Amino acid sequence: MERLDKFLCDAGIGSRSQVKGILKAGRVTVGGSVIRDGSIKTDGKNICLDGDPVGKKGRAVVMLNKPAGYVTARSDDAQKTVMELLPEEMRAWELHPIGRLDKETEGLLLFTNDGELLHRLISPKKGVQKIYYARHEGEATLEDIEAFRAGLTLRDGTVCLPAVLTPLGAGESQITVCEGKYHQVRRMMASRGLHVTYLERRQEGKLLLGDLPRGAVRELSEAEILAL
Ligand code: URA
Repeated sequence: MERLDKFLCDAGIGSRSQVKGILKAGRVTVGGSVIRDGSIKTDGKNICLDGDPVGKKGRAVVMLNKPAGYVTARSDDAQKTVMELLPEEMRAWELHPIGRLDKETEGLLLFTNDGELLHRLISPKKGVQKIYYARHEGEATLEDIEAFRAGLTLRDGTVCLPAVLTPLGAGESQITVCEGKYHQVRRMMASRGLHVTYLERRQEGKLLLGDLPRGAVRELSEAEILAL
């Protein structure tokens, strides 16, 4: 048994203060009776909001446009985490980041509460394509493009799968990789003398970052989840 207000928050109805307002407005019934007191204990059965049954939040996938300065971790004693960017009502959904972006990397970062989907999407066997925009020192040459295509060996001996380097202009490139090794894009570029000064992930599989503003979050539709 748990408190009704906590149950409603965990079900994704809203933040603690929103739930308080919803209860006060008489929009919640338990077993058909309007309940305004959030402290009553419930087993989660026969609860309705505006007449519709309420349950625990089902599978959710959320996209964040990550700003620089946040580490991809559920918690950290010293640094700001991406979890702090999730709106209050999503904090109860038990979301986990899918893969990671470095502290200074911006762009598309997904979260889910579905363990099976999480493991499927980060599995190297799945080979989901990730597309990055980079600003860097120097200019990418035909030799660099060919080295990416052949599969780079990093300075520490790590062998990378073939990847696509597309120069976009002086000091700007697009990089497409199918794996997610530690600092992968920065290290691949560094191995060719192309020191990255800015990095943004713009696409994962068919999913585009699009015009989601920096720092903003949106829940994916069922069709978008299936396309992952
Ligand atoms: N490659 C990197 O170097 N950093 C990231 O955050 C993602 C890919």
